[in-house]
Amino acid sequence: MKLPGSEEMRAIDRCAIEEFGIPGVVLMENAGTGTVRLIEEHFGTLSGTFALIFIGPGNNGGDGLVIGRHLHQRGCEPVFFFLVSPDSLTGDAAVNLAVVQKLKLPFHVIDSATRVKTIPVLFKQIESRGKPCCAIIDAIFGTGLTRDISGHFADTIDLINGRSFAKHTPVVAVDTPSGLDSDTGKIFGRCVTATMTATFGCAKPGQVMQGSSAVTGSLHVIDIGIPPEVIAKNTIATSLITAETAADWLRGLKRQANTHKGSYGHLLILAGSAGKTGAAILAARGAQRSGCGLVSLCVPYDLNTILETSLIEAMTVPLPTSSSVLNVSDLATILKHLDDKTAVVIGPGLGTDTRTAELVLYLYHSVKQPMVVDADALNILARHVDQLRTPAGPRILTPHPGEMARLIGRNATEVQENRLDAGKLCYHRFKKKGRELVVILKGAGTLIVTDNEQVLINTSGNPGMAAGGMGDVLSGIIGSLLCQGLSPTIAAAAGVYLHGMAGDGLYSENGHGFTASDLACNLPRCLKQLLD
Ligand code: APR
Repeated sequence: MKLPGSEEMRAIDRCAIEEFGIPGVVLMENAGTGTVRLIEEHFGTLSGTFALIFIGPGNNGGDGLVIGRHLHQRGCEPVFFFLVSPDSLTGDAAVNLAVVQKLKLPFHVIDSATRVKTIPVLFKQIESRGKPCCAIIDAIFGTGLTRDISGHFADTIDLINGRSFAKHTPVVAVDTPSGLDSDTGKIFGRCVTATMTATFGCAKPGQVMQGSSAVTGSLHVIDIGIPPEVIAKNTIATSLITAETAADWLRGLKRQANTHKGSYGHLLILAGSAGKTGAAILAARGAQRSGCGLVSLCVPYDLNTILETSLIEAMTVPLPTSSSVLNVSDLATILKHLDDKTAVVIGPGLGTDTRTAELVLYLYHSVKQPMVVDADALNILARHVDQLRTPAGPRILTPHPGEMARLIGRNATEVQENRLDAGKLCYHRFKKKGRELVVILKGAGTLIVTDNEQVLINTSGNPGMAAGGMGDVLSGIIGSLLCQGLSPTIAAAAGVYLHGMAGDGLYSENGHGFTASDLACNLPRCLKQLLD
């Protein structure tokens, strides 16, 4: 599913209007009727009710005017609150204002904090006539919001969110809740907390970012009559990873009868140190249970027995010089074992010892195979950003917000406030010309930034996965999908979806408390479900 940003949505609207000849006012009409239909479906009959409709300065306000007119058509009394002078409306919004004025539908202008205070009084007056309020409609700002909200706009949003006068009245956001940056998910100072959002044509990137559902409420895409040809014609950088897209990407993994373990690649995992052997084991399990043909691990000599007893199907390369951590002195042995491998995972539980750091940096630059770079390997990269040269092969970086913060020199709160920005910044910091790079920012709504600034947002996963070891399993899954012939971008996107899906199965059955090992065990079932 494509998620156009505000610029892209403007181009889509323009294309529909100018190239395909669909008048803008028709699109606005469809947006309004679609929203009213949605309200009716969810909140029941509209006849005999009233609605408060907040109208902003742009076309979002125009949508609100159409909504009011169609509520009126259904026997609901629309009460408009203009947050700008009605005379200032232009274009299609002004066309709809003229109709509302001809119909003599009641409206009030709210241009100060004092005026805002009159809203509950009016509400109570109408209610005392025995009319229930069916909805509060937020048509203040849509995709055109560009700066922090202040003044009477802010006061009105605070009043809507507080609404002690209308505690049980649902709030319906038109296209996007006012205050939410529909491109990034950032909040412009404050934001309407909607019960439901009716978004037009396509969902927008900011509406599916981590935490955005707290302000969008349930998100519904309304078909406003933009032909699929228009969507196909326009470049849209962001898309959603769904079960359908993941199944499509993984289709090639269906097994053929005349294949053998060599047909499904050989993954080399460089992970684990004393106290963190579990990370290496979990990465290997992720790989094995997502279909990797062969898995080998390079391990410090003293830890070899632990890994060999835990992973009976994997092979290990005990490194003679390394004792409790991987050591650059064992480079020659590692390079020898790298020769016939299809892909590499480096980082889980590795530690950041200087000898390990030297090894990681050398391998990051010199390994030709695609490499998944996770956990401590990322922490090592973060300390040596200035020394990074073009790597010899594709790289997939898989930071969680804390690791991302180190990679881009921000703190984790800043990363979470604008995940898209963080993902793109990291991509540009590590991207080297001529070499494929994929950045995966983990967390709810895992975000992937890949070449040509394509952004993919994952829809699977749940808070039960907020537990140690989940990321290690993910790195193994992605390594495994690389081994089975998927491109770095597709291995990353399909791997992230599969990982979340395996967690979702466990969460819906028993709630939280499942482990990363449990999740790994659930992978074959999910893979089968996607392939069938
Ligand atoms: N405070 C006050 N005014 C603001 C602020 C702000 N913080 N930010 C933006 N504006 C003003 C802009 O100057 C512009 O006049 O709000 C207006 C943008 O309003 P929108 O309705 O969000 O944007 P517009 O491009 O007109 O319409 C896009 O129309 O297709 C419909 O609902 C759909 O969201 C979509 C909307």
